[in-house]
Amino acid sequence: MIKVLFVCLGNICRSPMAEAVFQHMVNQAGLSDKILVDSAGTGSWHVGETAHRGTLGVLSKNGIAYHGRARQFTRSDLQEFDYVLAMDAENLSDIQRAASPRAKVMLFLELAYQAQTVTLREVPDPYYDGRFEYVFGLVNKGAAALLAHIRAQHGL
Ligand code: 4NP
Repeated sequence: MIKVLFVCLGNICRSPMAEAVFQHMVNQAGLSDKILVDSAGTGSWHVGETAHRGTLGVLSKNGIAYHGRARQFTRSDLQEFDYVLAMDAENLSDIQRAASPRAKVMLFLELAYQAQTVTLREVPDPYYDGRFEYVFGLVNKGAAALLAHIRAQHGL
């Protein structure tokens, strides 16, 4: 099993959106028996909560279900997961502070940025400005680039 973890601050806006969109793409590609998807937050404030209504709204509008609950990122996630995708630079440095830097930890949008399908490397936080639709577009580009990368790396 190839294990993929998306990480943001609260685990209620960006990383659950990325998890749901990526899981949807994995399902459509017929790879759900090969790729496991999860998300977590570096902070603990929202542990146990459902995703933000803005995230759930944009997902359901696009026909994507999500039933996950927020959990906090732990050091053991770095052992457990093969790919750890941080939504922004602060999340990335918080993850890397938990353990020595590892190649498998990177910014979620880095691959899409390199493929020139997005023009920024960090996912802006819709918790503060409510731009869930805009973030959904970015997350789709990031998820497509990540799935292409994993398929190429693993011959899937
Ligand atoms: P997220 O957004 O990291 O994308 O889930 C946030 C959610 C909650 C808070 C900050 C960001 N908060 O400060 O409670």
